[in-house]
Amino acid sequence: MTNRSWSGNCPAGLTKQFNGQSTAYLQWREHRLQLQSDWRNTEPLALSPALNTTADAQSLSILCEQVRDYGFAVYQWTRTSADINNDVARLYAGLSLTTTDSGVVSDKNGLSLLSDMSGTPRGRFIPYTSRAMGWHSDGYYNAPEKALRCFTLHCVQPAAQGGELSLLDDHLLLIALADENPGMVALLSSKNAMTIPANKDDVGHDRPDRATAVLFNHADGSPGTHFTTRTTNIRWQSTDTMAAARRMTELIDQHKDWHYTVRLQPGQGIVTRNILHRREAFTDSSGAPPRQMLRGRFLQAVGQPSCVTQAPDTTNQCTATHTNERN
Ligand SMILES: [Fe+2]
Repeated sequence: MTNRSWSGNCPAGLTKQFNGQSTAYLQWREHRLQLQSDWRNTEPLALSPALNTTADAQSLSILCEQVRDYGFAVYQWTRTSADINNDVARLYAGLSLTTTDSGVVSDKNGLSLLSDMSGTPRGRFIPYTSRAMGWHSDGYYNAPEKALRCFTLHCVQPAAQGGELSLLDDHLLLIALADENPGMVALLSSKNAMTIPANKDDVGHDRPDRATAVLFNHADGSPGTHFTTRTTNIRWQSTDTMAAARRMTELIDQHKDWHYTVRLQPGQGIVTRNILHRREAFTDSSGAPPRQMLRGRFLQAVGQPSCVTQAPDTTNQCTATHTNERN
């Protein structure tokens, strides 16, 4: 490990609004829990790959609302795509997702094609293996100015076995933490709550030590989370901070009713506001195509500043509004 330290601005922790006790927080909490109690597991939203119909515009509008309210949405292509990468990129552009952060390993349009590449240079990174991935938010090691607001997955090919995804809105986890002890929220809001050690390798990573809050506000005021169940090498600000982080993992496990699990099929995808997620291990069959998922990571949140920047027709612009309280 190097001794380089990061001199940039650490992300500030959560503002008073989200301290678990303020009137504004309690209103936000009530609203989020009400949404959850009203939530019904609906079918994936239908979208054509060309994204050029009135029905597509309506589905996009609903998709924006679901991402805002629940942290994620699931869609399903209505027909086979002739150019999956370009069609997926068009969808993301239609959701105002244009600035990718794919790290040093990305493919066409800034998207990364995830598959089991064990034994290759990419295979040293767990997303490019068939191994299980624990709960995390994407880019938890990113600099504040590169905090990820959205990650997406589009299924090109599922695995022969396994590969199920689980999702959990980090806003719900914040509520669980605050309900139990607002002091944990305060500890995890420290701008130095956790330090991710530097990483430099011949694949192209060159990142200094990164100190960051676990719980913080994005620039628009909405809560964000840098989280991983990874236990190796992370330096915690204090033993109490480490205990609070471990409690986060326990609360995730306790609130299985908040988990959404999905095994994406070809032509299906998820769009999220970088909520917590995990992947179970998978197995490819030697006689079938390997699991392939197109992944996108974006610095923008879905629907900012408008859900549809390239609307297929002007009469169906997304009408979803995004407020700090909800987003
Ligand atoms: Fe991830």
